[in-house]
Amino acid sequence: MNVIDAIRNRRSIRKFRDANIEDEKVNIILDAGRWAPSGMNNQPWQFIVVRSRETIDKIAQCTIYSDILRSANLLIAVFLDKDEMYDRTKDVMAIGACIQNMLLAAHSLELGAVWLGEILKEKEKVNQILDAPESLELMAVLAIGCPVERPTSTRKALDEIAHRGRYSRK
Ligand SMILES: Cc1cc2nc3c(=O)[nH]c(=O)nc-3n(C[C@H](O)[C@H](O)[C@H](O)COP(=O)(O)O)c2cc1C
Repeated sequence: MNVIDAIRNRRSIRKFRDANIEDEKVNIILDAGRWAPSGMNNQPWQFIVVRSRETIDKIAQCTIYSDILRSANLLIAVFLDKDEMYDRTKDVMAIGACIQNMLLAAHSLELGAVWLGEILKEKEKVNQILDAPESLELMAVLAIGCPVERPTSTRKALDEIAHRGRYSRK
């Protein structure tokens, strides 16, 4: 799949059908995350892959989006490794690039995925459930599965956000 097509056609998928996701596909998604750029190439991410229904249900209790998590066959919890940090802003940006790579990889494998941020309000609980040390700070949980919806979404027009030569007030 062409990168531009993947960027344009990826949508957040919040409803999945029950189907196994092969380890090979999970590895392709993780590998796409691993190849994201990061400041000084410090690669400040750690991933926890969750397939156990029991663990997914526990994590689902940490967010108002519990139905999305319960519908998914696979979660990837993405952490900032504070021991690898050199500049918080840049490290968090690198994690964003890493997550977008994983979303695009999932889309290219015809899987659906959504980036869940609301769950961060209960990030300590998620760490406890996953036995993650305090040095790992939860950045997002990705819910992944076989999509049963094709949602649409919109974006601001380019001329609202892109300026040529210098900033132009609307
Ligand atoms: C930082 C961040 C946090 C997000 N948190 C949530 C969330 O908690 N729940 C949710 O349903 N979607 C969440 N999303 C997905 C956005 O709602 C979605 O990307 C946006 O509405 C645009 O839709 P699209 O991805 O289908 O183009 C999040 C996205 C980002 C980048």
